[in-house]
Amino acid sequence: MDIFESLFTRRSIRKYTGEAVNNEDILRILQAGRWAPSGLNNQPWRFLVLGSEDERKDMLQSCTKYSRIISEAKTLIAVFLDKNSKYHHEKDCQAAGACIQNMLLAAHGLGLGAVWLGEILNQEDQVHKILKTKAEELELMAVVAVGHPAEQGSSRRKNLEEIMIEPL
Ligand SMILES: Cc1cc2nc3c(=O)[nH]c(=O)nc-3n(C[C@H](O)[C@H](O)[C@H](O)COP(=O)(O)O)c2cc1C
Repeated sequence: MDIFESLFTRRSIRKYTGEAVNNEDILRILQAGRWAPSGLNNQPWRFLVLGSEDERKDMLQSCTKYSRIISEAKTLIAVFLDKNSKYHHEKDCQAAGACIQNMLLAAHGLGLGAVWLGEILNQEDQVHKILKTKAEELELMAVVAVGHPAEQGSSRRKNLEEIMIEPL
């Protein structure tokens, strides 16, 4: 897929078919995330993949009002910052954002559907308990839900004129 086509046609996908997502596709998505830019190239992101057979996946439903998405998605990718790799909070969060966007675009390029789940950060402690990850080591950035799309996204954007501080 041409890069501009990919950028302009990606949408959050929150409904999925029952078809499993194969490991090769998940690997490609993780590789795309890994190649995101980061300040000082510190690559602070860390990933935890939860497939349908992982009992922790369904347990995460209790951590978010988006429980239906958690339950329907075939794979979840929890994205963390490694606290030992951090050097500047805002910049590390921006790097995680770039990493997550790369993963969303990769999923789209593979014909999969994905959505960035941020609301779950409100229950970060509970997420750590369920995933058996350590809050002293890892800071939750998002959970990316992935599956085969059963809907087309429909979001729109503000016109360029509305978001330009000065006209071009
Ligand atoms: C930081 C961040 C947090 C988000 N959290 C959620 C979420 O918890 N649940 C959800 O359904 N979508 C979430 N989204 C997806 C946005 O709702 C979505 O990107 C936005 O509405 C634009 O739609 P689009 O992705 O289809 O273009 C989040 C996106 C970002 C960037």
